[in-house]
Amino acid sequence: MTITKGQCSAIRSCSMKKEQVQHCQFSVWYPIFKQHTIKSVILPLPPDVIDYFLDDGTLVVPGSHHAAQQTHINSDLDEEEDIQAPEFPEFTAQVLEAINALGGLVFPKLNWSAPRDANWIALNSSLQCRSLSEIFLLFKSSDFITRDLTQPFLHCSDQDSPDPNISYELVLRKWSELIPGGEFRCFVKENKLIAISQRDYTQYYPHILKQEESILHAILDFFNQRIQHAFLDEDFVLDVYRDSQEGRVWLIDLNPFGEVTDSLLFSWEELRCGGGVGQQQEGPDFRYTTSEVTVQPSPCLSYRIPRDFADLSTGEDAYKLMDFLKLKKSQEEESSDEDVDAAH
Ligand SMILES: Nc1ncnc2c1ncn2[C@@H]1O[C@H](COP(=O)(O)OP(=O)(O)OP(=O)(O)O)[C@@H](O)[C@H]1O
Ligand SMILES: [Mg+2]
Repeated sequence: MTITKGQCSAIRSCSMKKEQVQHCQFSVWYPIFKQHTIKSVILPLPPDVIDYFLDDGTLVVPGSHHAAQQTHINSDLDEEEDIQAPEFPEFTAQVLEAINALGGLVFPKLNWSAPRDANWIALNSSLQCRSLSEIFLLFKSSDFITRDLTQPFLHCSDQDSPDPNISYELVLRKWSELIPGGEFRCFVKENKLIAISQRDYTQYYPHILKQEESILHAILDFFNQRIQHAFLDEDFVLDVYRDSQEGRVWLIDLNPFGEVTDSLLFSWEELRCGGGVGQQQEGPDFRYTTSEVTVQPSPCLSYRIPRDFADLSTGEDAYKLMDFLKLKKSQEEESSDEDVDAAH
């Protein structure tokens, strides 16, 4: 596509501002759309917990006696030394209470991101958590979480303006079994729904092809009735889930309209500049994968090879692996203890 002069000015006028990123924090949009999304609890993150997430030292999981005893990297290699794992009793109590209130299983995220790149480290290879240790393990292993903490305003066009003040929060969402073929990403420009992409575009879902019209209508109705003009910005990206049994649409997440958000089956250039997208009178441009031939490797695949394991090949990081294995073991023991307790 050739970009004309007029379209180039559209790029500039639509470029993402820090304020837009600020508005897409969970605690900003959740109160507005609470009735249309998954039940969640927001807990302020104490500064010492944030420091702990960013500390790149050996993994230590608070609250686990097994993990509290670990090998100190700087000491004599054969020597075992007790290091007290950091404990955050007040915060731990708040998290446990929230997990209980949400039914015992939660999906964790920070102000914007979930640790999707770290699910390889979880016992069940998913982001489903039922304890603080599991949440800490995921957060400490995730580059997406580090990016939220250290570079929240990446790709913003107003880099010269001061960064808005961010209060970091742990978001716990009730665990919900979402079928990937029911997830769609919707691009909203000037309060108009211009484009919809299948979220898990690496897979072919025949039902989308068959139900194209009803999916499109369900999403459009949801947008028109529940979302349009209700948010703080007129450009944003919303993720929705269509329950194929009930046909009901739910809001999953709200994201900034810009490069920090994956444009999936579109490009940011065409979303910003038109190029046919959103120009039709009849409604949004709906893209989905139409055959097995186009199926691509999952974009998160590269994150599934643990960097800690890769580091091993250079011989630098053997202790990290040991820690990881200890944690796995202690988690397994904890869960088998719980199973025994539950049986009694
Ligand atoms: N409450 C939940 N229970 C189970 N799975 C969930 C839940 N919320 C989200 N998911 C799954 O996790 C995926 C990522 O969730 P979410 O969009 O909140 O993360 P994100 O970090 O904002 O992602 P992105 O970077 O793509 O915007 C969703 O596509 C969905 O499949
Ligand atoms: Mg998101």
